[in-house]
Amino acid sequence: MTMQKTTTSEKVATGAAQSKLILVGEHAVVHGQPAIALPFPLIGAESIVEKSRGQIYLDSSLYSGPMELAPSSLAGIVNTVKHTLKILQIPYRDLLIRIRSSIPPGKGLGSSASVAIAIVKSLFKYKEEKYTKEILLQLANICETYAHGAPSGIDPLTITSDRPIWYQKEKPVDYIDPKGNFHFVIADSGQMADTKTAVDTVKQMLKQAPQKMYKKIERIGDITYQVREALEKSSKQLLGYLLDEAQKELEALGVSDKSLNRLIEIAKSEGALGAKLTGGGNGGCIIALAENEHHSQLLSEKLLQYGAHNVWSYELKG
Ligand code: MEV
Repeated sequence: MTMQKTTTSEKVATGAAQSKLILVGEHAVVHGQPAIALPFPLIGAESIVEKSRGQIYLDSSLYSGPMELAPSSLAGIVNTVKHTLKILQIPYRDLLIRIRSSIPPGKGLGSSASVAIAIVKSLFKYKEEKYTKEILLQLANICETYAHGAPSGIDPLTITSDRPIWYQKEKPVDYIDPKGNFHFVIADSGQMADTKTAVDTVKQMLKQAPQKMYKKIERIGDITYQVREALEKSSKQLLGYLLDEAQKELEALGVSDKSLNRLIEIAKSEGALGAKLTGGGNGGCIIALAENEHHSQLLSEKLLQYGAHNVWSYELKG
């Protein structure tokens, strides 16, 4: 649905946010295990707010029109906007919010949290008020509840960080200082991922076979501790092995799919040291560890050649 809106407003405020990658620990983090996530500045979201007479109007690639008529898929964003306006005591009208994003939505790269954070920042700037990290996280988590069902909170935390994070629910965030450089390739399977459904799938599996499934969740937790060591000791071979091990557990939890498994196979057959899904799974993206920068370029080309919809080479610098 698209309705064009033009303004002649002079008052404009913008907010921006990067995206994120989960290196290891997705899903297990919802159930109390630690996870490691990386800020991913190669793609991001921007929100531009301006004064415009009438009801609040959203303009984005997914929907353009009055905010009140936005589709249910945008309920998280709508509610984040409403709560932010309430906190800022801005009336629910006379605003145009333009959202521009280079993060593919529904691909496990934190699109919902990034858009929410960009919007909150832009509304605070519009009101000429300062925001704190706590308020950004609190408001972004409203959106995350719609996108993930029972969010761990890791996405907004990573998006507002400039360092890799170590996160375990209800514990203070810790930061990781990797030693050496790690070259990753992120490849998009082209399949939309629904994180909420994936989180629900794991919940169902836990209900059906609690003992067996909790073992898998705990195993992911163990792997996550070892991944931290591999990053801090600059051990690429070990990191690659651990990413493969994490993928086995994620497959057993029912959150990988054919499109991801295929990309992982291609990455491995082209010499990736390890590869797994990243984010919610069931579509979305994989993350593969390359030997070095040159190898990451080769891997990217191969993954594109064999059908990845998009690839990004990302160097984690120590
Ligand atoms: C999504 O990026 C990560 C999940 O673990 C969900 C969450 O932590 O909210 C799948």
